[in-house]
Amino acid sequence: MKQIPMLDLRLEYEYMKNDIDAAIGKCLEHQKWILGPEVKELEEKIADYLGVKHCIGASSGTEALVLALRSLAIIRKGQEYFDKTDEIITTPFTFTATGDAVLRSGATPVFIDIDPATYNIDTKKMREYLVSHPSRVVGIIPVHLYGQSCEMDEIMKIAREHNLFVLEDVAQAFGGMWNGKRLGAIGTAGTFSFFPSKNLGGFGDSGLVSTNDDTIAGLVRMLLKHGGKDKYNVDHIGYNARLDTLQAAIVLAKLKYVDEMNEGRRKIAEIYNRELAGTDGLSLPSSLAFASHVYHQYTIRLAKGKRDDLQKFLAEKQISTMVYYPVPLHKMKVFEGRGKSPYPLPESERAPKEVLSLPVEPLMQSGDLTSVVSVIKTFCSSGK
Ligand SMILES: Cc1ncc(COP(=O)(O)O)c(C=O)c1O
Repeated sequence: MKQIPMLDLRLEYEYMKNDIDAAIGKCLEHQKWILGPEVKELEEKIADYLGVKHCIGASSGTEALVLALRSLAIIRKGQEYFDKTDEIITTPFTFTATGDAVLRSGATPVFIDIDPATYNIDTKKMREYLVSHPSRVVGIIPVHLYGQSCEMDEIMKIAREHNLFVLEDVAQAFGGMWNGKRLGAIGTAGTFSFFPSKNLGGFGDSGLVSTNDDTIAGLVRMLLKHGGKDKYNVDHIGYNARLDTLQAAIVLAKLKYVDEMNEGRRKIAEIYNRELAGTDGLSLPSSLAFASHVYHQYTIRLAKGKRDDLQKFLAEKQISTMVYYPVPLHKMKVFEGRGKSPYPLPESERAPKEVLSLPVEPLMQSGDLTSVVSVIKTFCSSGK
């Protein structure tokens, strides 16, 4: 039986091979491995694509988050790190890195429940918390989960009312939009991941910070190079978190294809939506009117217990699926005593037991897509 993976990076490489090989070949010729010309070129091209003033490459999406948060601490507090009493609102239904970066910036993550329809942070609950705790919160990190924008108009409104920064975690949503604006160009700053499986991925770890703010951009540039404008005369506690030249070259070669690949993901989502509509026991992803979803994941939902059974059934037929994420952040040991959950988080605890992400390879063969749909329908109609 043929294996159907979540993604097939080899297929994508073959599709873009000429561009990628030429980009790597160019690096082999010039040998400028640290902050080579491709880093600047990628930063400029992505800034142009997003419509922002600055993009700064980083060694990963995680480091991009830390660099942005540390810069915000320096600007807002006049000190290297936030204090523990400084709170940053975010979602517990995300990859660990979002909350972990808050801890590494010195602040306390405050976990607010998600909207069960979109899996993104619930802005009403966010408002409730801010009304009762107005003075401690310094910022918000909305995560555009699975490739769909959070409600950015409302989040920006809340931020203005409470004088908060907004750091968009765009790791899963390169190319996505809210109300005609690219994600990563709406908040105070945005961070991206070029982890290989992302919508725009390199061949290793890499990431980027986007911002219109000159001071944030300047600080991020310093912090990623050990903390100084000059390597031998350092101002801040820094990192070695530069974007690797080779990764920049690969991401640059793939950037040309990102809209086409995102369109491919949308087409797959349309087919899943059409073919799986009305299937007993399944909830399909909902898409917001103002959001242009880029389907980093196509995630369905089934009642607790059924999800695991379907995943097993698909695995027996060689179809890969994934659970993003099996554990919400507030249940992880690392956030015990370090993160705050002011209210119960029922939706963030229910989703990990019910969600299932299906294969969404943009170059997937239509026969494979038909097989996935048909196996799911067989499972659901059998009443298993
Ligand atoms: C929502 C989210 N934030 C942050 C990250 C961290 O990115 P990276 O793996 O490039 O460090 C990821 C990537 O896995 C992610 O999905």
